[in-house]
Amino acid sequence: MTEVIESIESGPSGSEERAKVIEVENLVTHYPGNPEPTLKGVDMSVYAGEIMVIMGGSGSGKSTLLRQLIALDAPTSGQVRILGRNLVGLGAAHMHDLRKVMGVAFQGGAMFNSMTVGENLKLPLREHLKLAERQMDIMTRMKLAFVNLDVATADLMPSELSGGMLKRAAMARAIMMDPKLLFCDEPSAGLDPAVSSALDDLILRLRDAMSMSIVVVTHERASAFKIADRITILDKGVILMIGTLDELRASDNRRIHDLLTGVAEETEVGAWL
Ligand SMILES: Nc1ncnc2c1ncn2[C@@H]1O[C@H](COP(=O)(O)OP(=O)(O)OP(=O)(O)O)[C@@H](O)[C@H]1O
Ligand SMILES: [Mg+2]
Repeated sequence: MTEVIESIESGPSGSEERAKVIEVENLVTHYPGNPEPTLKGVDMSVYAGEIMVIMGGSGSGKSTLLRQLIALDAPTSGQVRILGRNLVGLGAAHMHDLRKVMGVAFQGGAMFNSMTVGENLKLPLREHLKLAERQMDIMTRMKLAFVNLDVATADLMPSELSGGMLKRAAMARAIMMDPKLLFCDEPSAGLDPAVSSALDDLILRLRDAMSMSIVVVTHERASAFKIADRITILDKGVILMIGTLDELRASDNRRIHDLLTGVAEETEVGAWL
């Protein structure tokens, strides 16, 4: 497993083609009881070291796609390959190895309220490594510092944090294991512009300083434009377009044009902008 992950990380040497860390092929997700699939044949990939932003209207399937990428749900059909490994049929041991190199910052923080922030941050370390308490304390402080939180935050309960602090703490927990892949669901939703912008800077720093490949689901247009290397636009379970901001701007698709210029704010697609 480790060999596969290392070879994908470095990419094909001498090749023009960039290594893909995530490959999604014809992914269909049909929740039982729903009249039609939520994801209707999604194809997308994420290159090593890029920030891929997933945008789309409410109910378009963004969180569903994210849950597939982090193997929380199994696809109805189609394939998801992470670091070269097909998630379908992946045994428990390989899945455990894969989870070591994937960090997830959930929308609401997903902290255990009965534990201090520090204990929450140590959870991935306890799950994957055998370290002395002192080592874990040091790693916790380092990650809190990286996300610009005071080290004393470790002793607070999650309920004592502001919205912005909680998002940062969730990010700190997601990077405790120095993952190769980071997934963030709405990292800056509901925050004021300055705090939101600082979180954007943090995500850029994680890509540049720690060479992470990052998938971000966001409603925030300003944030998406600032951090995205490429953007995937989901619309009612299908991909409208994948591209850089410049490529999206050059599109003659009226809905994408409206979306980027803000005209879409009055329209169905723009309801989320
Ligand atoms: N566990 C589930 N069971 C049944 N239907 C579901 C389930 N999860 C999501 N859905 C349906 O799938 C569709 C897409 O949901 P999803 O949460 O992926 O959308 P989203 O793009 O993340 O929306 P939002 O922007 O509101 O978070 C919705 O119609 C939702 O009702
Ligand atoms: Mg969602």
